[in-house]
Amino acid sequence: MKYGFFDDNNKEYVITTPKTPLPWINYLGCTDFFTLISNTCGGYTFYKDAKLLRMTRYRYNDTTPDTNGKYFYIKDGDTIWNPGWQPTKTELDSYECRHGIGYSKFCGAKNDIEASLITFVPIGDPVELTKVTITNKGANKKEIQLFSYVEWCLWNADDDMKNYQRNLSIGEVEVLDSTIYHKTEYRERRNHYAVYSVNTPINGFETSRDEFRGAYNGPDKPAAVLAGKLNNTIASGWYPIASHQIDIVLAPGESKTFVFALGYIENPDDDKWEKPGVINKTKANTLLSKYQTSEDFDNAFAALCDYWDNLLRKFHIESKDEHVNRMVNIWNQYQCMVTFNMSRSASYYETGIGRGMGFRDSCQDLLGFVHLIPDRARERIIDIASTQFQDGSAYHQYQPLTKKGNSDIGSGFNDDPLWLIAGTSAYIRETGDTSILKKMVPYDNDMSVATTLMEHLKRSFDYIVTHKGPHDLPLIGRADWNDCLNLNCFSEHPGESFQCFGPSEGPVAESVFIAGMFVKYGREYAALCKLMGDSSEEARVLSEVDKMIAAIEKDGWDGEWFVRAYDAYSHKVGSKECDEGQIYIEPQGMCVMAGVGIENGNAEKALNSVKDKLDTKYGVMILQPAYTKYHLELGEITSYPPGYKENAGIFCHNNPWISIAETCIGRGNRAFEVYKKTCPSYIEDISDIHRTEPYVYSQMVAGADAKFHGEAKNSWLTGTAAWTFTNISQYILGIYPTLDGLSVNPCTPADFGDFNITRVYRGVTYNIEIKNPNKVQKGVASLLVDGKEIKGNIIPFDSSKKVVNVTATMN
Ligand code: GLC
Ligand code: GLC
Repeated sequence: MKYGFFDDNNKEYVITTPKTPLPWINYLGCTDFFTLISNTCGGYTFYKDAKLLRMTRYRYNDTTPDTNGKYFYIKDGDTIWNPGWQPTKTELDSYECRHGIGYSKFCGAKNDIEASLITFVPIGDPVELTKVTITNKGANKKEIQLFSYVEWCLWNADDDMKNYQRNLSIGEVEVLDSTIYHKTEYRERRNHYAVYSVNTPINGFETSRDEFRGAYNGPDKPAAVLAGKLNNTIASGWYPIASHQIDIVLAPGESKTFVFALGYIENPDDDKWEKPGVINKTKANTLLSKYQTSEDFDNAFAALCDYWDNLLRKFHIESKDEHVNRMVNIWNQYQCMVTFNMSRSASYYETGIGRGMGFRDSCQDLLGFVHLIPDRARERIIDIASTQFQDGSAYHQYQPLTKKGNSDIGSGFNDDPLWLIAGTSAYIRETGDTSILKKMVPYDNDMSVATTLMEHLKRSFDYIVTHKGPHDLPLIGRADWNDCLNLNCFSEHPGESFQCFGPSEGPVAESVFIAGMFVKYGREYAALCKLMGDSSEEARVLSEVDKMIAAIEKDGWDGEWFVRAYDAYSHKVGSKECDEGQIYIEPQGMCVMAGVGIENGNAEKALNSVKDKLDTKYGVMILQPAYTKYHLELGEITSYPPGYKENAGIFCHNNPWISIAETCIGRGNRAFEVYKKTCPSYIEDISDIHRTEPYVYSQMVAGADAKFHGEAKNSWLTGTAAWTFTNISQYILGIYPTLDGLSVNPCTPADFGDFNITRVYRGVTYNIEIKNPNKVQKGVASLLVDGKEIKGNIIPFDSSKKVVNVTATMN
């Protein structure tokens, strides 16, 4: 069942009922100022950091889900309603929500009044703009009222939901004309406040939530809206909000338009006040004056659309498969940008409080967006590397505002260092910018011990070389990519965090997954050494890689698939010898992607085992058989009920690894079959089962052992976005950036047909036509570059050209 449809021309998903199985959200904002907005106008806003600078309040786990947001109430006679349906839930005569690229539109109608909203964050300003257009569709004059509503968060979102003994006394606001200023804590250590304004004189305002709602009413029955009159209260403590009242008279057919602006303002410490107790509003006035008219709004909106069109143009496919076209050209790239901005911090499943930027997560996110905004990728790499420790290991996360490592979450996840190589290599392959390798980068933010980024990569690599276990495989540390495989933790008591409890290291537990990564990213590091002319380091690295391959072949192979790990007793994890958890997806994907087992046939065996044992109609499960009881020696992975999350869920992030691995052995049909299973557009029809948004990937789909097999959770912020885009663009469609130029080597289903790709690479536009007359799955028989046949798959990079026309014929 569907709850809407794709409108590809407008790059929108159109939701046709507010009653989606779960709130279906969108993200507004590109750099510093962000809003999450659901299809019923729920959500919240923050500046830079979802924990420390939260502007509006949201209540996760609320009894009526998703009833805090930026609402507009319309009072028409005795009826009150919202164009996005929530929170009054008054039945609408019509409803539509269009989530687009960086904006959302809503249109609701009731009793001859139509209210349409467009909301977005303009490029370059810390403000969310909403244009509200109210139209009288009937034959009679209408006298109605419009009320806006936002609830302020007292900035630190964590404190905001815990520290009531303080919070209920600190709320402060000011109101001047049509602008409401939220200035809690501005009197002391903050230098920032928020504004909510509208471009028209108002008939009243409210800043106290209790006055607005009445002490015991919910957001669905605000007393002041029901009464048709706001009381002009200046809040003092308790729960500050902002609401404007606008009385509107509309002749038949008449429309009125209002522009609302919700902004964030920072002042220098020595210029905070206009006079004692009155905030300096100069910057607020400057910001608001830019968006005073409908035309101002429309121009800023057009600029946002241009911005996105230009970005998305960098990779564009035309094929006969509408799902591939839509996901590649629009939604998958869009999700990559959102994951880049948010890491795993703020979604409807991540509260924005618990997690900052992940070291490994952000490095992987880079793979998906580096072609879109290479400059920001460069900056991100430096930020991430700056939190690395001198021995090459890393904090697992850092806070976006301070860019400092987050010691609450700890360190010792032994895959983390290698992801820095993955991200940096992707950046250089994309841009050719080797200057980044020479940049001086601190360790743990301490500039006095800074070295070049290249040295950081060396220390990443060497961390693994110097941390091996009894089988010469990498020690796992606290965990590897699978955060929940905690082989040194031995946690016995509820409440202990698997991320921090117990020793982060042990001398025995080893990871075959990290071994695979070491081979893959070790080789990429070696290629960078070669590029930089360091052949002795290159040779050393490649010989370490060879040793690792030998260790995998000796003790990392189980006969039909790769072993997952060795636990703290040196028992195998993910082996036919185990009762449960006999086969895991991760080492199969990573080892084959690294090329291990391709020559001797083990790769094919491993992937056949994956198909045999882990496949379901909704995707490939992370392991089988599911763990039915808690294992002290395995940790969090066995804490989940069977079929959920890392315990045999379909963890979408590693499905593309299997798909990529299939392309490595040339099986395009199977690679694409795996791609399709988790691809949102392909499964739009089962939205009632899948439940999360049909335009983005979710972290997890419940596996075959779960009660709700096929049901997804944790949409949006997942490495699935970047890895799937890597998979489809670089491996299945086969346009892979190398250090020397673009390589063209598709691996598609036999019947995929011919296709055309436009790819902007290092400033040059490549128009690539791919033909497959004999319906093969892999192999380029001829490659014509501007009419000339070249040998091999790599188009040598030539910066003197603006446009390059390429024809590849598969055979
Ligand atoms: C989550 C984490 C990621 C981890 C994965 C598997 O997606 O963000 O870092 O690799 O779970 O545990
Ligand atoms: C990863 C896992 C999740 C785990 C979290 C923190 O995100 O997916 O299951 O709870 O890490 O431990």
